[in-house]
Amino acid sequence: MDSMYAKKDTGWLNHYAGIHYGGRYLQTRWNKFVPAENFKYVENLSQLSIDSFDQVECSNKRALDLGCCVGGITFNLAAKFNEVIGFDCEKIYLKLCDELKENGKASIYSCEEGDLESEMIAEISDSIDRSRCSFILGDVHALPSDIGTFGCVVVSNLLHCIKNPMKVLKTIPGLLDENGICVIASPHYSSENFTPKENWIGGYSNKDGQAVKASTTIKEILSDQMEFIQTEDIPFAMQYRIRDLEMNISEVQVWKKSPKMK
Ligand SMILES: C[S@@+](CC[C@H](N)C(=O)[O-])C[C@H]1O[C@@H](n2cnc3c(N)ncnc32)[C@H](O)[C@@H]1O
Repeated sequence: MDSMYAKKDTGWLNHYAGIHYGGRYLQTRWNKFVPAENFKYVENLSQLSIDSFDQVECSNKRALDLGCCVGGITFNLAAKFNEVIGFDCEKIYLKLCDELKENGKASIYSCEEGDLESEMIAEISDSIDRSRCSFILGDVHALPSDIGTFGCVVVSNLLHCIKNPMKVLKTIPGLLDENGICVIASPHYSSENFTPKENWIGGYSNKDGQAVKASTTIKEILSDQMEFIQTEDIPFAMQYRIRDLEMNISEVQVWKKSPKMK
């Protein structure tokens, strides 16, 4: 299958596409060494979001996937939600999302060795109504004012790679309807490569010498207007090359917007 996504000019696209759609290939190849869970991040996070939504009484069946990247979670959420918006600032990721929406499949590539690449087919299950999904290009620090409200907002592995995670966290309650849920996942890297140190939400000692952790800061910010439901750890394998996998474990927090806290 011809595709514009092959080769090195696509930056991180193929690494992310590997996480979102290449799991079954690597799982088959490395099942002797790597537990299958590491290749099911997108499925596990989406299922947790759907299961959490099933436990609340919320009539809003719209979902928002902030920092949707190549769209794996957005498409999976369409198994439950009538309308799902994937939002990201990278045109090339959304181009792949649109190709997948249109055709249900696309070629992605994984570096095999040096210049050699292996082709994998990214595929959206036929059971998913892809027409429920749409993709918007933009900056999460300045969401469109007409984006509306949602029953579910997913913020997966985004907070650690944006300029101002605190600002984005503070917009979440306003995006949710009563009883709507928010699922926040992060490996909590806290790195100046992405976030200026003055905007870190964790990973440093405060002036009293106490450790400040992102996990706690998220709770402090959201608990004003939302109710904490549960936390879980979900692993994912970042695929740099076929034989070069980096293990990560995201901490996932599930929150509900309580009616009385509107
Ligand atoms: C680490 S990836 C995570 C992707 C996906 N949510 C997941 O869990 O696999 C972070 C994504 O956030 C997007 N992103 C980073 N900064 C952004 C911003 N300011 N506005 C919108 N998207 C952003 C990146 O383009 C990338 O697709």
